Amino acid sequence: MTKINVFDPLRLRAVFGAFPSGVTVVAALVDGDPIGISASSFTSVSLEPALVSIRVAHGSRTWAVLRGAPRLGVSILSAGQERAGRQLGTRGVDRFAGLDWRTTTDGAVLLDGASAWLDTSIEQQVRAGDHDIVVLAVHDLDADGDVRPLVFHASRFHRLQA
Ligand SMILES: Cc1cc2nc3c(=O)[nH]c(=O)nc-3n(C[C@H](O)[C@H](O)[C@H](O)COP(=O)(O)O)c2cc1C
Repeated sequence: MTKINVFDPLRLRAVFGAFPSGVTVVAALVDGDPIGISASSFTSVSLEPALVSIRVAHGSRTWAVLRGAPRLGVSILSAGQERAGRQLGTRGVDRFAGLDWRTTTDGAVLLDGASAWLDTSIEQQVRAGDHDIVVLAVHDLDADGDVRPLVFHASRFHRLQA
């Protein structure tokens, strides 16, 4: 049996946060309103079929609703979208206030100005500790190679240097 180590949460966050990532917003229209979360855990998984994944905390109230949506929009945030990244990751605020967004015909919500976007649906969910690994099938996608991404590292937002 695997020995389970328990670490100080601050130490875990410091070490896990040493790995830089981008920031995505995963969102859908539910009962006519956009709902979504910020997710820095986005990663590509498979080319054929096209699959990506995010990891979502079991405590996420928004995910409990979002996971029932037929399609999920994944917007890979651009350098200028720090506000969106922060807002969509904050409880008790109007997460889409002041943001420009659009929907696909199937109800995926995408943020305008993102550096890339994917229209997805849930393919598989795997329990992993206090998170779920969520595998998403990709139905459509596009990227603007001229738009720089937002970077998340050590719990802070950063921009790539030219
Ligand atoms: C930059 C950033 C990245 C985040 N990445 C994740 C993530 O990958 N997985 C996750 O479960 N929550 C992540 N969060 C937290 C969620 O966006 C959100 O705050 C959380 O789901 C709590 O709100 P909820 O209970 O309404 O879902 C992130 C937050 C921020 C600000």
